[in-house]
Amino acid sequence: MKNYSLGKSNLQSSRLIYGCMRIAGDQSVNAIDKGKRAVLSAIDAGYNHFDHADIYGGGASEQLFGELLKQAPHLREKMILTSKASIRPKNNENTYAPTRYDFSKAYILSSVEGSLKRLHSEQLDLFLLHRPDYLFDIDEVAETFQQLKTSGKVAHFGVSNFKPSQVAMLQSALDLPLLVNQIEINIHNIDALNDGTLDQCQQDKLSPIAWCPLGGVAYSAWGNSFSVEDEQRIADELTSQAQVYNCQPWQIILAWLLKHPAKIFPIIGSTTPERIIAAKVALELNYSREDWYRLFEARNGQAVP
Ligand SMILES: NC(=O)c1ccc[n+]([C@@H]2O[C@H](COP(=O)([O-])OP(=O)(O)OC[C@H]3O[C@@H](n4cnc5c(N)ncnc54)[C@H](OP(=O)(O)O)[C@@H]3O)[C@@H](O)[C@H]2O)c1
Repeated sequence: MKNYSLGKSNLQSSRLIYGCMRIAGDQSVNAIDKGKRAVLSAIDAGYNHFDHADIYGGGASEQLFGELLKQAPHLREKMILTSKASIRPKNNENTYAPTRYDFSKAYILSSVEGSLKRLHSEQLDLFLLHRPDYLFDIDEVAETFQQLKTSGKVAHFGVSNFKPSQVAMLQSALDLPLLVNQIEINIHNIDALNDGTLDQCQQDKLSPIAWCPLGGVAYSAWGNSFSVEDEQRIADELTSQAQVYNCQPWQIILAWLLKHPAKIFPIIGSTTPERIIAAKVALELNYSREDWYRLFEARNGQAVP
């Protein structure tokens, strides 16, 4: 798979990133085996960038991945390892505290330590703030990033689910460039097309990374408010385009994201080796502007003005 620079760095990421959120499944022996096979098939298929978060599987996803790296340490050299932190789910240790976001220095440092330990790694290539903390102090975050960089625990930084104003605010306090903004974008959720997120990515050379790229197609999207008729109209257009391009409808959805000039990196979250491999078909489709707008029109239920 062809690699591309992430943001202004020389980190070369495969255009499709492999998402590790689901790899530990229900944490049964069978699910763990399946997750390991999924990761190995992604590596074989040329994915070199793996996306984690401290909370995936309550830490079980990073743990599983770390076991693989322990068994085959040479795999680490060729890969980009990303993890995220800031979401602190309600737990039994402190039942008073609700689920919350936390950008405090103490929390971020301890979360990165936990990820490194589970991942059996000395350094994260990329660390992302998972969701914006409403009590976000940019100077404290800048100090935390500097400490993580100086200690060698993190090489590069980025954000996730940030609005353009939040990216600009954080960047104003940093000496290092933010490399990515990991956002939800799919045929259902097109906020990033309209709210300036992708504009900022192009302008500031920030790589947009798409989570749940198949949301609403392979399964219901979060907060999906589309009617049955809407879904049918989109499905019909996808089916008809898939026939023209001789591929699967879900591969058209990926091609639709890849067409955007901000250079979106979709994260593939399937745990099925055949789908992990077949996602690459989307990279080869010569997807046209006309088809991009036809699908947009089907999604919106009306032509653009
Ligand atoms: N930053 C954030 O806030 C955030 C939030 C959510 C996720 N993420 C990241 O984004 C990654 C991708 O998210 P995602 O896993 O939701 O992405 P996805 O690739 O859109 O969806 C994967 C899910 O769809 C199913 N699927 C895929 N193709 C299918 C098909 N053709 N027909 C039916 N089902 C199909 C998969 O099932 P099988 O496994 O059975 O194939 C799997 O359950 C995550 O792993 C995580 O790294 C980030």
